[in-house]
Parts: sequence; structure tokens; C-alpha cells
Amino acid sequence: MSATGQDGGITPLAARGAGERRSVGDGGNVCAAWGVVLGMRAMTYAEYGEPSTMALTDAPMPKAAPGAVVIRVERASVNPVDWKVMSGGLDGLIEAVFPVIPGWDVAGVVETVGPDTPEFTPGDRVASYGRTDIIHGGTFAEYVALPATSVAAIPDGVDMDAAAGLPLVGLTALRSLETLELTADDTLLIHAASGGVGFLAAQLAREVGATVIGTASAHNHEKLQAIGVTPVTYGDGLVERVREIAPDGVSAVADFVGGVREDTLELLAEGGRHVSIADPSVEETGGRWVWVRPDGPRLRTLLQKVADGALRVEIDRSFALADAAEAFEISRAGTANGKLLIDATR
Ligand SMILES: NC(=O)c1ccc[n+]([C@@H]2O[C@H](COP(=O)([O-])OP(=O)(O)OC[C@H]3O[C@@H](n4cnc5c(N)ncnc54)[C@H](OP(=O)(O)O)[C@@H]3O)[C@@H](O)[C@H]2O)c1
Repeated sequence: MSATGQDGGITPLAARGAGERRSVGDGGNVCAAWGVVLGMRAMTYAEYGEPSTMALTDAPMPKAAPGAVVIRVERASVNPVDWKVMSGGLDGLIEAVFPVIPGWDVAGVVETVGPDTPEFTPGDRVASYGRTDIIHGGTFAEYVALPATSVAAIPDGVDMDAAAGLPLVGLTALRSLETLELTADDTLLIHAASGGVGFLAAQLAREVGATVIGTASAHNHEKLQAIGVTPVTYGDGLVERVREIAPDGVSAVADFVGGVREDTLELLAEGGRHVSIADPSVEETGGRWVWVRPDGPRLRTLLQKVADGALRVEIDRSFALADAAEAFEISRAGTANGKLLIDATR
């Protein structure tokens, strides 16, 4: 183990094989960098950088503080924010304490509960969008500790893949539509309707009864049509293409990609509302910059919709924990067709 240098003093994982877990309270050797008992495999990075600098390491077992649960991770999911955080892109907004275990989405089983945490019991199947105020102990690990308020029980009939792919994107979609106060009378334009957030927002908007127009690459048009969305190709000429479908403009716009503010303003009818999750400048023109919050109860509502068949989470593929950097590269390239998952059991 090196105490300095590129790995930042984290112990690279060599002694233990993939899939070999320790249970909570299991002792072990002591890692000087963390100053605590080692306990689990985790992907970590010691400073901001490229995805390839992430490494599989031994990390301390997280503790179940009062009001918190420790989750044995089965699946995590990748979101663009994970590699944006790793690049240092959110440094002005959220404090990072290195070494960092990335990842905010998780599905797994409750291992232990903290004092006075009656909401959950060891053995419960749960999911969470587990962003905390400090970036440090994420979900790309065998275990993660999270406040019970961000955790939701997974209903029967929802598998770990769908439960892990849902939290961040589902809660963002819901918060965006709630901020828009969307109703059945609306015609909603969704920029990036085929992405993680967009595809869920499109389904939720259709459930409300709104008319939905969604931008996507041509190869994704069929999948949007299948959920009752009128697809249009993004890029030059977008305003004209949308006007062919909605000559009077649209009453609401949800921007899930950024860089489309002028098109949005041209297409919004008088009194229209708009939100963006990717462009803070919308606030200068009467829009709202939406930032998703952890919310266990709302996540439970979304999971129930998945159980009821009212909401479908698209999964692209899953990666072993040690291959998380590859998943980051695919997410960054924008070539995934559905959620990219990290399987923490491999
Ligand atoms: N503020 C928040 O709380 C919040 C929450 C979640 C996500 N975000 C941000 O929102 C963005 C989307 O997240 P995501 O998870 O949905 O990403 P994603 O799953 O990677 O989807 C991105 C989508 O963008 C589409 N796209 C690419 N270029 C486009 C363009 N010029 N115009 C319209 N669509 C375009 C792609 O559609 P095709 O594949 O059809 O080409 C792709 O499906 C990311 O920047 C993410 O960091 C913010």
C-alpha cells in the first residue's frame, strides 16, 4: 500500500476476490489512509480526474447512524452527474471529501438499521436516490449508509435492476412535472425525451393526460411513439418541426439536455411554463432550474407505478463493480440505450 502518490493512499484491492463479501462488524486489517477497520470492496478515486483513474479498493464498512440504514448493494446505476462530479464539475456546488466512492442510485437489501430507525428492518428490499450534502460514501460499493428519509421499500414484482435504474431519473422527472404543474390540458415539449430522465417524464406526463412532443434521435422515435409521445428530431430546424405538430406553440417545456433555451422561448405559447435540469440560465427568462432532492416517500410512489406496470425503466446493460469506469465512458459518450447498472455482487 502506498501512503502517497496517485492512489491517494487507498488500498488497492488485491487480496480478496470479486463477489467475496464481508458482513458488517467483520474485522480485518487496518487501512492507515482511512484510519479505520477495512470492510468492503468499493470503487474509489483519490482526486478529481478521468474515469480510468477510479480503482477497486478496500474501504471501511459504513456505519448506521441514528435515522440511517446500511444497505447491502445489489445494483447501483450510473447517472451523468457521477462522471461530472468526478471531473470536478460540481466542485463549486457540493463539497467532496476524498477518497470518494461515486454513485447516488442504489437497490439492495437492508443490512443494519441505526438507533431509532423503525421504518426499516434488516432484510428489507430497498432503493434510494442517496445524494448526501458531502460527496464521499456513494453507492458503487458493497455497502452504503443512507438516511432513512431517502430510502423506499421495493414492492413485490419490481426487480433490483429496475429499482436501481429508477431513483435519480424518476425523482427528477417527477419534480420537473410537479414544478410545471402539468395537467391534461397541457401540450408539453420534452427536450431529450429518450434519455434516462426524459423517458420517465414522458410516461408520467402521458399518465397525467398531457399531449407530449419529445425530441430524440431518429432511432429512438419508435420507442417514444410506443408510449404515446409524438417524436421530433432535435437540432437545426427544431422550431419549425414542432410548429408543424403544434401550430400555436406549447404550454409547457421540460428541458433535459441544456443549450435549447432559445428554441424553448420561441415555442412557448403566451403564459407557458418551462423548466430545465441542465441550464440554470432558464431562471433569467421566467423558467425554473430544477434540482432533484432525495425523497423516500416519492420514490416509493414511483416504484409502485413500476410494480403496477404504469412506468417502465429501460435498462441497457450492467457492469461488474470493477468495470465502473467503462460504464462512465459509455454514459459520457451518450451511446447507452437505457440505464447503465453496476452489479455490486460481481
Ligand atoms: N438538475 C438535476 O437534478 C438533474 C437530474 C438528472 C439529470 N440531470 C442532467 O440532465 C441531463 C440528462 O440526464 P439523463 O440521465 O436523462 O441523461 P441520458 O440518459 O444520458 O440521456 C441523454 C439524452 O440526451 C439526448 N440528447 C443528446 N443531445 C441532444 C440534443 N442536442 N437535443 C436533445 N436531446 C439530446 C439523447 O437522446 P438520443 O439518444 O435520442 O440522441 C439522450 O437520450 C444530464 O446533463 C444530467 O446531468 C440533472
